[in-house]
Amino acid sequence: MDWERDGVTRRTALARGFGGVFLVCSFDFDAKTRPSGKRTSAFARASQSRPFQPFQRDVPIPPVARPVAQTRSLQQYVLTMKPGTADILPGFKTPILGYDGLYPGPTIKATRGRAVDVRQINQSGRALNVHLHGGVTRPEFDGHPHDEIPNGTERLYKYPNVQRQATLWYHDHAHGETARTLFAGLAAFYLLDDPDDAGLELPRGAYDVPLMIQDRSFNADGSFRYRVDLDRGFRGDTILVNGAVAPRMKVERRLYRLRFLNAANARAFTLSLGNNRAMTQIASEGGLLTQPVRRTSIPLEPAERADVVIDFRQFGIGSKIILHNIDGEPTTQAIMRFDVVRGRSEEARVPKALAEEESLPAVNARRGWPLTFQGLGTSMWQIANGGFDEMRVDCRPRQGSTELWTWTNNSSRTHPMHLHGYHFRVVSMSGKPPHAGDAGWKDTVAVYPNQTVVVRPYFDYFPGRYVFHCHAAEHGDMSMMGQMEVVA
Ligand code: C2O
Ligand code: CU
Repeated sequence: MDWERDGVTRRTALARGFGGVFLVCSFDFDAKTRPSGKRTSAFARASQSRPFQPFQRDVPIPPVARPVAQTRSLQQYVLTMKPGTADILPGFKTPILGYDGLYPGPTIKATRGRAVDVRQINQSGRALNVHLHGGVTRPEFDGHPHDEIPNGTERLYKYPNVQRQATLWYHDHAHGETARTLFAGLAAFYLLDDPDDAGLELPRGAYDVPLMIQDRSFNADGSFRYRVDLDRGFRGDTILVNGAVAPRMKVERRLYRLRFLNAANARAFTLSLGNNRAMTQIASEGGLLTQPVRRTSIPLEPAERADVVIDFRQFGIGSKIILHNIDGEPTTQAIMRFDVVRGRSEEARVPKALAEEESLPAVNARRGWPLTFQGLGTSMWQIANGGFDEMRVDCRPRQGSTELWTWTNNSSRTHPMHLHGYHFRVVSMSGKPPHAGDAGWKDTVAVYPNQTVVVRPYFDYFPGRYVFHCHAAEHGDMSMMGQMEVVA
């Protein structure tokens, strides 16, 4: 569709006064999805996507970023957002846009109580920003969609790391562009550890593995192939984990902590181990659950995370256990495979209690947010019958309070609703209490078609203006996003 190429990308590129993304950037977002013009048979062939074979490669682990300087209270990083290439398909280099030119980007390992500063240099060819998803940050460091880093400039983001241990991630949040920039590769983990939790003896080091799940399609030349779908959002035919096609992971017979992140644009995954074996969920987006929760399937909407512990002692050496996506089409049903390769088995178990139940301040206000599809005019997906307007503040919660927010989905698509700056508890889903795995602290929740979800956000840390939005990237871009201003 033309709005995307000509209406948004080019116009904003010109308005921002740099020479257009097509000249300065070796990552060409649009060439392969160009819908108009003459279609030669070569073009038709080149745009043919075929899904790829699973389990051919060992799962890559994204490199851990190294601080350029550190003290006991602060770690400093420098990252450059720039084009690069990724080895995804044998014999091809796939152009990507990434942090330090890497896809996925480098993992930042942070510690509660020790701040992190990240100097983000933008050499991408377009205006970007950085959002630490799930992070508690002051609003000026949150990556508000209109708070952009022009190409060729840089910005310092300050993360205080005051919150509980959690699996966070960072990604671009440029207004109206996130579907493209996330797709292009701007996504990475930020793992916040809490030394006070050391006594839990959860698996650590090589046994604590971040796994970023995404879907992609490819052109015949190995480049990513984006297809515009404003209704459902992008859906690819191939699953990638940490940037490798449905990889395999060699595991020992012991406990592993696996941190699953759905970093897809719009696709939901429902994780399920072969033979329906149980996984033990220990955390959701906002940190550890009060108690571990045994689950045989875990649904993950875009931006949701689930930390699980899997006990591979239950399998013999040589076992191959597939992690399925039970929501998938034939080519997107296999996420990865665990190959049990070594017999050493250790004494270990998951503690019965993980985190304390916190008592919350009384509910101070109730708000309702209908989620709708507006077919006429320019804004398509909307919250409370309005598109995103940075000049409009939709609510002003009081700092230190909790509220009850009701998301009412009046559409036939799922909306993973996400709040910046704060976390919430799920109170009910269509009148029923949430699954125990969704009852802890979260920052994103699935609101299924024609369902009503009540959440209780806690506006605990910093006051200021933040966005909340649907994390189906195409919906958030177009323009399912509102603003809250938390007042002190
Ligand atoms: Cu990961 Cu505003 O989002
Ligand atoms: Cu949505």
